Amino acid sequence: MKILVTGGAGYIGSVVVEELIKSNHSVTVFDNLEKGHLESVSERAEFVEGDLRKGGELLIETLRRNEIEAVIHLAAYSLVGESGENPAKYYQNNVVAGLNLLDAMREAEVKKLVFSSTAAVYGEPEKQPITESDRVSPTNPYGETKLAFESALRWYETAYGLRYASLRYFNAAGASANCGELHEPETHLIPLVLQAALGKIPHVSVFGEDYKTRDGTCVRDYIHVIDLARAHILALDILDERSAIYNLGCGGAGYTVREVIETAENVTGLKIPTKIGERRAGDPAVLIASSDKIKSELGWQPEFQDLRLIIESAWKWTKKYTTKAKIQTK
Ligand code: UFG
Repeated sequence: MKILVTGGAGYIGSVVVEELIKSNHSVTVFDNLEKGHLESVSERAEFVEGDLRKGGELLIETLRRNEIEAVIHLAAYSLVGESGENPAKYYQNNVVAGLNLLDAMREAEVKKLVFSSTAAVYGEPEKQPITESDRVSPTNPYGETKLAFESALRWYETAYGLRYASLRYFNAAGASANCGELHEPETHLIPLVLQAALGKIPHVSVFGEDYKTRDGTCVRDYIHVIDLARAHILALDILDERSAIYNLGCGGAGYTVREVIETAENVTGLKIPTKIGERRAGDPAVLIASSDKIKSELGWQPEFQDLRLIIESAWKWTKKYTTKAKIQTK
Protein backbone atom coordinates (compact mmCIF):
# COMPACT_ATOMS: atom_id res chain seq x y z
CA MET A 1 0.00 0.00 0.00
CA LYS A 2 0.94 3.67 -0.31
CA ILE A 3 1.15 4.93 3.24
CA LEU A 4 1.88 8.29 4.85
CA VAL A 5 3.38 8.26 8.36
CA THR A 6 3.08 11.42 10.45
CA GLY A 7 5.84 11.59 13.05
CA GLY A 8 7.81 9.10 10.97
CA ALA A 9 11.14 10.62 12.04
CA GLY A 10 10.40 10.04 15.73
CA TYR A 11 11.28 7.12 18.02
CA ILE A 12 8.27 4.89 17.30
CA GLY A 13 7.52 6.37 13.87
CA SER A 14 10.97 5.63 12.45
CA VAL A 15 10.60 1.97 13.43
CA VAL A 16 7.09 1.86 11.92
CA VAL A 17 8.64 3.17 8.68
CA GLU A 18 11.40 0.52 8.76
CA GLU A 19 8.84 -2.26 9.26
CA LEU A 20 6.52 -0.89 6.54
CA ILE A 21 9.39 -0.89 4.07
CA LYS A 22 10.34 -4.44 5.06
CA SER A 23 6.75 -5.42 4.21
CA ASN A 24 7.08 -3.77 0.77
CA HIS A 25 4.81 -0.81 1.40
CA SER A 26 5.58 2.51 -0.26
CA VAL A 27 6.14 5.12 2.46
CA THR A 28 5.96 8.90 2.73
CA VAL A 29 7.06 10.47 6.02
CA PHE A 30 5.50 13.76 7.14
CA ASP A 31 7.34 15.24 10.14
CA ASN A 32 8.25 18.70 11.42
CA LEU A 33 11.61 17.47 12.85
CA GLU A 34 10.93 19.22 16.14
CA LYS A 35 11.66 16.00 18.03
CA GLY A 36 12.53 13.54 15.30
CA HIS A 37 15.69 13.20 13.22
CA LEU A 38 15.95 13.07 9.46
CA GLU A 39 18.85 10.60 9.53
CA SER A 40 16.67 7.96 11.15
CA VAL A 41 14.18 8.02 8.27
CA SER A 42 14.82 5.13 5.91
CA GLU A 43 16.33 6.25 2.60
CA ARG A 44 13.64 4.22 0.89
CA ALA A 45 10.90 6.54 2.22
CA GLU A 46 10.05 9.95 0.78
CA PHE A 47 10.44 12.66 3.40
CA VAL A 48 8.27 15.79 3.59
CA GLU A 49 9.03 18.37 6.27
CA GLY A 50 5.77 19.84 7.47
CA ASP A 51 3.85 20.83 10.58
CA LEU A 52 0.22 19.74 10.91
CA ARG A 53 -0.50 22.74 13.16
CA LYS A 54 -0.03 25.03 10.16
CA GLY A 55 -3.05 23.58 8.37
CA GLY A 56 -3.43 21.01 5.65
CA GLU A 57 -2.26 22.56 2.35
CA LEU A 58 1.10 20.81 2.09
CA LEU A 59 -0.42 17.62 3.40
CA ILE A 60 -3.30 17.61 0.89
CA GLU A 61 -0.81 18.11 -1.92
CA THR A 62 1.39 15.27 -0.58
CA LEU A 63 -1.54 12.88 -0.11
CA ARG A 64 -2.70 13.53 -3.68
CA ARG A 65 0.72 13.49 -5.34
CA ASN A 66 1.70 10.17 -3.75
CA GLU A 67 -1.78 8.65 -4.11
CA ILE A 68 -1.78 7.80 -0.40
CA GLU A 69 -4.22 5.04 0.58
CA ALA A 70 -3.80 5.10 4.37
CA VAL A 71 -2.22 7.26 7.08
CA ILE A 72 -0.46 6.10 10.26
CA HIS A 73 -0.62 9.03 12.70
CA LEU A 74 2.09 9.20 15.35
CA ALA A 75 2.95 12.92 15.40
CA ALA A 76 2.12 14.15 18.90
CA TYR A 77 3.55 15.35 22.19
CA SER A 78 3.73 12.62 24.80
CA LEU A 79 5.01 13.80 28.18
CA VAL A 80 2.46 13.40 30.94
CA GLY A 81 4.09 15.92 33.32
CA GLU A 82 4.58 18.58 30.65
CA SER A 83 0.97 18.18 29.53
CA GLY A 84 -0.19 19.19 33.01
CA GLU A 85 2.00 22.28 33.03
CA ASN A 86 1.14 23.36 29.48
CA PRO A 87 -2.16 21.81 28.34
CA ALA A 88 -2.53 24.37 25.52
CA LYS A 89 0.58 22.94 23.85
CA TYR A 90 -0.98 19.45 23.99
CA TYR A 91 -4.40 20.52 22.74
CA GLN A 92 -2.76 22.36 19.82
CA ASN A 93 -0.54 19.50 18.72
CA ASN A 94 -2.57 16.43 19.68
CA VAL A 95 -6.06 17.72 18.88
CA VAL A 96 -5.96 20.78 16.57
CA ALA A 97 -3.15 19.40 14.39
CA GLY A 98 -4.90 16.01 14.37
CA LEU A 99 -8.11 17.62 13.11
CA ASN A 100 -6.10 19.36 10.38
CA LEU A 101 -4.86 15.92 9.36
CA LEU A 102 -8.39 14.49 9.26
CA ASP A 103 -9.65 17.41 7.18
CA ALA A 104 -6.74 17.07 4.75
CA MET A 105 -7.56 13.37 4.44
CA ARG A 106 -11.19 14.22 3.67
CA GLU A 107 -10.10 16.72 1.05
CA ALA A 108 -7.77 14.19 -0.60
CA GLU A 109 -10.31 11.38 -0.12
CA VAL A 110 -8.06 9.20 2.03
CA LYS A 111 -10.32 7.14 4.26
CA LYS A 112 -8.04 4.90 6.33
CA LEU A 113 -6.15 5.86 9.49
CA VAL A 114 -4.16 4.00 12.14
CA PHE A 115 -3.85 6.18 15.23
CA SER A 116 -1.08 5.75 17.79
CA SER A 117 -3.08 6.46 20.94
CA THR A 118 -2.20 5.71 24.56
CA ALA A 119 -3.42 3.57 27.43
CA ALA A 120 -3.28 6.81 29.44
CA VAL A 121 -6.89 7.27 28.22
CA TYR A 122 -7.90 4.83 30.99
CA GLY A 123 -6.50 7.02 33.78
CA GLU A 124 -6.44 5.25 37.17
CA PRO A 125 -7.69 1.79 36.11
CA GLU A 126 -10.40 -0.04 38.05
CA LYS A 127 -8.82 -3.45 37.32
CA GLN A 128 -5.76 -5.07 35.73
CA PRO A 129 -5.10 -5.98 33.01
CA ILE A 130 -7.02 -3.20 31.27
CA THR A 131 -9.34 -4.22 28.44
CA GLU A 132 -10.74 -2.04 25.68
CA SER A 133 -14.23 -1.96 27.21
CA ASP A 134 -12.96 -0.55 30.54
CA ARG A 135 -13.98 2.95 31.54
CA VAL A 136 -11.90 5.75 29.98
CA SER A 137 -11.14 8.58 32.37
CA PRO A 138 -7.80 10.29 31.73
CA THR A 139 -6.05 11.92 34.67
CA ASN A 140 -3.85 14.28 32.65
CA PRO A 141 -4.12 16.46 29.52
CA TYR A 142 -1.91 14.08 27.54
CA GLY A 143 -4.41 11.21 27.91
CA GLU A 144 -7.31 13.64 27.56
CA THR A 145 -6.05 15.02 24.24
CA LYS A 146 -5.50 11.53 22.81
CA LEU A 147 -9.03 10.59 23.89
CA ALA A 148 -10.45 13.77 22.34
CA PHE A 149 -8.88 12.80 19.03
CA GLU A 150 -10.28 9.27 19.34
CA SER A 151 -13.75 10.78 19.86
CA ALA A 152 -13.34 12.85 16.70
CA LEU A 153 -12.45 9.67 14.81
CA ARG A 154 -15.74 8.10 15.87
CA TRP A 155 -17.77 11.01 14.51
CA TYR A 156 -15.69 11.32 11.35
CA GLU A 157 -16.43 7.66 10.72
CA THR A 158 -20.19 8.16 11.17
CA ALA A 159 -20.38 11.27 9.04
CA TYR A 160 -17.61 10.89 6.46
CA GLY A 161 -16.93 7.15 6.26
CA LEU A 162 -13.41 7.39 7.74
CA ARG A 163 -12.12 3.99 8.93
CA TYR A 164 -9.69 3.95 11.84
CA ALA A 165 -7.79 1.66 14.18
CA SER A 166 -6.72 3.19 17.46
CA LEU A 167 -3.87 1.53 19.36
CA ARG A 168 -3.58 2.10 23.12
CA TYR A 169 -0.34 1.16 24.86
CA PHE A 170 1.84 2.21 27.79
CA ASN A 171 5.63 1.92 27.85
CA ALA A 172 7.22 1.74 24.40
CA ALA A 173 10.78 0.54 24.90
CA GLY A 174 13.78 -1.05 23.18
CA ALA A 175 15.30 -0.25 19.82
CA SER A 176 15.76 -1.55 16.30
CA ALA A 177 19.27 -1.77 14.88
CA ASN A 178 19.16 1.87 13.76
CA CYS A 179 16.45 3.63 15.77
CA GLY A 180 16.26 4.00 19.54
CA GLU A 181 15.10 6.26 22.32
CA LEU A 182 16.64 9.20 24.10
CA HIS A 183 14.40 12.14 24.80
CA GLU A 184 15.61 15.60 25.70
CA PRO A 185 14.97 15.90 28.59
CA GLU A 186 14.75 12.16 29.26
CA THR A 187 12.08 11.05 31.72
CA HIS A 188 11.62 7.36 30.80
CA LEU A 189 12.98 4.63 33.01
CA ILE A 190 14.92 2.37 30.62
CA PRO A 191 16.97 5.09 28.87
CA LEU A 192 17.72 6.66 32.27
CA VAL A 193 18.86 3.32 33.67
CA LEU A 194 21.21 2.86 30.70
CA GLN A 195 22.54 6.40 31.07
CA ALA A 196 23.29 5.62 34.72
CA ALA A 197 25.08 2.42 33.65
CA LEU A 198 27.29 4.54 31.39
CA GLY A 199 27.92 7.09 34.14
CA LYS A 200 26.18 9.86 32.14
CA ILE A 201 23.92 10.52 35.13
CA PRO A 202 25.02 9.82 38.71
CA HIS A 203 22.12 7.54 39.64
CA VAL A 204 18.55 6.48 38.88
CA SER A 205 15.92 7.73 41.31
CA VAL A 206 13.45 4.99 42.15
CA PHE A 207 10.13 6.79 42.51
CA GLY A 208 8.75 5.08 45.61
CA GLU A 209 9.27 1.62 47.11
CA ASP A 210 6.15 1.45 49.28
CA TYR A 211 3.61 0.47 46.62
CA LYS A 212 1.53 -2.68 47.13
CA THR A 213 3.43 -4.64 44.49
CA ARG A 214 5.73 -7.68 44.66
CA ASP A 215 8.81 -5.60 45.57
CA GLY A 216 7.25 -2.26 46.50
CA THR A 217 8.08 -0.49 43.21
CA CYS A 218 5.67 0.30 40.37
CA VAL A 219 4.77 -2.33 37.78
CA ARG A 220 4.68 -1.25 34.15
CA ASP A 221 3.94 -2.78 30.78
CA TYR A 222 7.06 -2.47 28.60
CA ILE A 223 6.48 -3.25 24.95
CA HIS A 224 9.18 -3.53 22.32
CA VAL A 225 9.05 -0.79 19.70
CA ILE A 226 9.35 -3.36 16.88
CA ASP A 227 6.33 -5.29 18.21
CA LEU A 228 4.46 -1.98 18.44
CA ALA A 229 5.40 -1.07 14.88
CA ARG A 230 4.17 -4.43 13.61
CA ALA A 231 0.83 -3.93 15.37
CA HIS A 232 0.39 -0.59 13.56
CA ILE A 233 0.95 -2.36 10.24
CA LEU A 234 -1.37 -5.30 11.06
CA ALA A 235 -4.09 -2.83 12.00
CA LEU A 236 -4.10 -1.52 8.42
CA ASP A 237 -5.65 -4.83 7.37
CA ILE A 238 -9.02 -4.29 9.02
CA LEU A 239 -9.68 -0.87 7.53
CA ASP A 240 -11.41 -2.13 4.40
CA GLU A 241 -14.16 -3.49 6.60
CA ARG A 242 -14.36 -1.76 9.97
CA SER A 243 -12.87 0.47 12.64
CA ALA A 244 -11.51 -0.82 15.95
CA ILE A 245 -9.72 0.04 19.17
CA TYR A 246 -6.96 -2.28 20.40
CA ASN A 247 -4.84 -2.33 23.53
CA LEU A 248 -1.24 -3.46 23.25
CA GLY A 249 0.74 -4.81 26.17
CA CYS A 250 3.41 -7.27 27.16
CA GLY A 251 0.84 -9.84 28.20
CA GLY A 252 2.34 -11.03 31.48
CA ALA A 253 2.64 -9.64 34.97
CA GLY A 254 4.61 -6.62 33.80
CA TYR A 255 7.92 -5.59 35.35
CA THR A 256 8.72 -3.61 38.47
CA VAL A 257 11.18 -0.71 38.51
CA ARG A 258 13.58 -2.92 40.48
CA GLU A 259 13.27 -5.74 37.93
CA VAL A 260 14.13 -3.27 35.16
CA ILE A 261 17.23 -2.13 37.03
CA GLU A 262 18.35 -5.70 37.87
CA THR A 263 17.82 -6.86 34.28
CA ALA A 264 19.78 -3.87 33.00
CA GLU A 265 22.63 -4.72 35.38
CA ASN A 266 22.66 -8.28 34.01
CA VAL A 267 22.54 -7.14 30.39
CA THR A 268 25.20 -4.43 30.72
CA GLY A 269 27.38 -6.17 33.30
CA LEU A 270 27.59 -2.76 34.99
CA LYS A 271 26.49 -1.56 38.40
CA ILE A 272 23.57 0.88 38.20
CA PRO A 273 23.59 3.30 41.13
CA THR A 274 20.11 3.98 42.52
CA LYS A 275 18.57 6.27 45.09
CA ILE A 276 15.14 5.70 46.59
CA GLY A 277 13.08 8.81 46.03
CA GLU A 278 9.55 9.96 46.74
CA ARG A 279 6.59 8.65 44.76
CA ARG A 280 6.06 10.60 41.51
CA ALA A 281 2.71 12.38 41.51
CA GLY A 282 0.07 10.58 39.46
CA ASP A 283 1.91 7.24 39.19
CA PRO A 284 -0.51 4.30 39.66
CA ALA A 285 1.04 1.20 41.31
CA VAL A 286 0.33 -1.14 38.39
CA LEU A 287 -0.47 -0.45 34.72
CA ILE A 288 -0.94 -3.43 32.43
CA ALA A 289 -2.94 -3.57 29.23
CA SER A 290 -4.54 -6.77 27.96
CA SER A 291 -3.70 -7.56 24.32
CA ASP A 292 -6.15 -10.45 24.02
CA LYS A 293 -8.36 -8.63 21.51
CA ILE A 294 -5.65 -7.78 18.97
CA LYS A 295 -4.15 -11.26 19.39
CA SER A 296 -7.43 -13.03 18.68
CA GLU A 297 -8.73 -10.68 15.97
CA LEU A 298 -5.51 -9.82 14.11
CA GLY A 299 -3.13 -12.57 15.20
CA TRP A 300 -0.65 -10.06 16.69
CA GLN A 301 2.10 -11.87 18.59
CA PRO A 302 4.86 -9.90 20.27
CA GLU A 303 8.29 -11.33 19.46
CA PHE A 304 10.26 -9.47 22.14
CA GLN A 305 8.11 -9.86 25.24
CA ASP A 306 11.00 -10.76 27.50
CA LEU A 307 12.34 -7.67 29.30
CA ARG A 308 15.87 -8.93 28.74
CA LEU A 309 15.41 -8.77 24.95
CA ILE A 310 13.96 -5.27 25.22
CA ILE A 311 16.84 -3.99 27.33
CA GLU A 312 19.47 -5.79 25.23
CA SER A 313 18.20 -4.02 22.11
CA ALA A 314 18.11 -0.64 23.88
CA TRP A 315 21.63 -1.22 25.25
CA LYS A 316 23.06 -2.11 21.82
CA TRP A 317 21.56 1.04 20.34
CA THR A 318 22.61 3.23 23.26
CA LYS A 319 26.24 2.11 23.00
CA LYS A 320 26.24 2.58 19.23
CA TYR A 321 24.48 5.92 18.91
CA THR A 322 24.26 8.04 22.00
CA THR A 323 27.72 9.44 21.54
CA LYS A 324 26.87 10.34 17.93
CA ALA A 325 24.24 12.65 16.50
CA LYS A 326 21.70 9.91 15.84
CA ILE A 327 19.61 10.42 18.95
CA GLN A 328 15.90 9.81 18.72
CA THR A 329 12.92 11.34 20.37
CA LYS A 330 9.33 10.22 19.93
N1 UFG B 1 10.51 5.72 37.17
C1 UFG B 1 11.42 5.79 38.20
N2 UFG B 1 12.47 6.66 38.06
C2 UFG B 1 12.65 7.42 36.95
C3 UFG B 1 11.73 7.32 35.89
C4 UFG B 1 10.65 6.46 36.04
O1 UFG B 1 11.30 5.13 39.22
O2 UFG B 1 13.63 8.19 36.90
C5 UFG B 1 9.40 4.78 37.28
C6 UFG B 1 8.02 5.46 37.20
O3 UFG B 1 7.61 5.84 38.48
C7 UFG B 1 7.19 4.33 36.59
C8 UFG B 1 8.18 3.54 35.73
O4 UFG B 1 9.46 3.90 36.19
O5 UFG B 1 6.72 3.49 37.60
C9 UFG B 1 8.07 3.89 34.26
O6 UFG B 1 8.10 5.31 34.14
P1 UFG B 1 8.24 6.04 32.73
O7 UFG B 1 8.36 7.50 33.02
O8 UFG B 1 9.31 5.39 31.92
O9 UFG B 1 6.87 5.72 31.99
P2 UFG B 1 5.36 5.96 32.52
O10 UFG B 1 4.87 4.61 32.96
O11 UFG B 1 5.26 7.08 33.44
O12 UFG B 1 4.68 6.46 31.18
C10 UFG B 1 4.01 5.62 30.32
C11 UFG B 1 4.15 6.14 28.88
C12 UFG B 1 3.32 7.38 28.70
C13 UFG B 1 1.91 7.13 29.18
C14 UFG B 1 1.93 6.75 30.62
C15 UFG B 1 0.54 6.54 31.15
O13 UFG B 1 5.49 6.41 28.57
O14 UFG B 1 3.28 7.70 27.31
O15 UFG B 1 2.67 5.54 30.75
O16 UFG B 1 0.54 6.51 32.54
F1 UFG B 1 1.16 8.23 29.05
